[in-house]
Amino acid sequence: MSGTNETQALGRDRIRKLFDLRSSYNAVSGGDFTDDPYPVWHELRERAVVHEGTVHELTGVHRPLRFQGLPLPDRPHFSVFGYAALDEIYRNSEVFSSSEGDTDPNSTAVANSMLSMDGTRHRRYRALVQPSFVPARAQWWITNWIQHTVHNLIDGFAEEGRAELNVDFCAAIPVLTITGSFGVPVEQALDVREALHNPAEVVAMLAPIVAARRESPQDDLISVLTQAELKDDDGTTHRLSDAEIYSFALLLLFAGSGTTWKQMGITITALLQRPDLLRAVNEDRSLLRPAIEEALRWMPTDPMFSRHVTRDTDFHGTHLPAGSVVHLCLGSANRDPARWERPDEYDITRRMKASFAFGGGPHVCLGMHVARAEIRIGIEALLDRLPNLRLDPDRDQPRFIGMYERGVTEIPVVFG
Ligand code: HEM
Repeated sequence: MSGTNETQALGRDRIRKLFDLRSSYNAVSGGDFTDDPYPVWHELRERAVVHEGTVHELTGVHRPLRFQGLPLPDRPHFSVFGYAALDEIYRNSEVFSSSEGDTDPNSTAVANSMLSMDGTRHRRYRALVQPSFVPARAQWWITNWIQHTVHNLIDGFAEEGRAELNVDFCAAIPVLTITGSFGVPVEQALDVREALHNPAEVVAMLAPIVAARRESPQDDLISVLTQAELKDDDGTTHRLSDAEIYSFALLLLFAGSGTTWKQMGITITALLQRPDLLRAVNEDRSLLRPAIEEALRWMPTDPMFSRHVTRDTDFHGTHLPAGSVVHLCLGSANRDPARWERPDEYDITRRMKASFAFGGGPHVCLGMHVARAEIRIGIEALLDRLPNLRLDPDRDQPRFIGMYERGVTEIPVVFG
């Protein structure tokens, strides 16, 4: 399918609705938040390690938002803003658990996926798919899905001399990569994304693929899942049930499509806003890696994840009762001056140190190498194919917005 057709098959208006952070669809996680939260987070971090309340309330947003660990109105909520304190929490999953309660193996909800499991059970589930997500496997993703997707999308606008990269490029890549790895046809990719809030619909779309791959496995991710064998407590093994496969597939869609889209948009915007830096990266492609890592540190798309306190604990002078929810403001931790000098500057020459953009501890992002590959291959292809790429001076300039899902408004560019 040619690029133009692929973009048409997706439908630009539908992509815009789904992927505009300002649309009502995304408002539940604070997509319409337009302030810069970092000055407030600096103040909070300077005042205390732990604060009572949620990150969004402490940042000045006083309406209920939905995200991992939210809203849970009947629980006490605390938020943590410093790098070292977050590190302690990530390393102590016995006290700071990812699980809100018991997970139900027969449910396909993301809340029942490995994102919400702990200990041995989490390790076993994660180990099933980890081999498909290690750095050495990035090339499998690139060759099978990423490269083709990226070039088809560029074909769709390369002749026009202008484009809007946030939606027509960044948003489409991860959705097409993940659905492609499931064996979902391009025409159905957006149906899958749109149905994410109604898992039964996604399951209905995946069911025939799962059945077919059980019969005859192919070189794709659903086949990996149908073949995978899970070790039970008594040492016996079992193949994943359909419900377990759907739950896993939903988690990947949920965790992998919106995040990579927005992080790619943030990275491209950071470079376009610094034309000298963009030129340097274009001339020396080895600079792309630090440019991507620095964007992850400087502006992670998801600046907050949560943990559940399993027993009464005193943490940096604050009593955290069992059952309370602790919100880890990794956006703030990534700009902790105790770890990075001039933390608010996007500086790709700084010595690279691990940040928390992909989380930390046992739940560190499973898809991080795929995400990095998508962003790198995407930007490389733009630089290769669109000479003299720059922001369109006649259009509204990109702005960074969003509370728990941060990203850019639009990225209008001209080239040639
Ligand atoms: C730039 C893009 C991405 C960012 C910033 C990101 C960020 C994160 C973070 C912070 C976590 C940890 C959550 C926690 O601690 O509770 C996480 C977990 C996870 N991510 Fe990503 N992610 C990205 C892309 C992806 C992609 C492309 C995939 C899959 C293809 C993916 C799959 C997952 C999964 C399965 C988990 C749960 C891991 C576990 O519970 O052990 N992510 N991600």
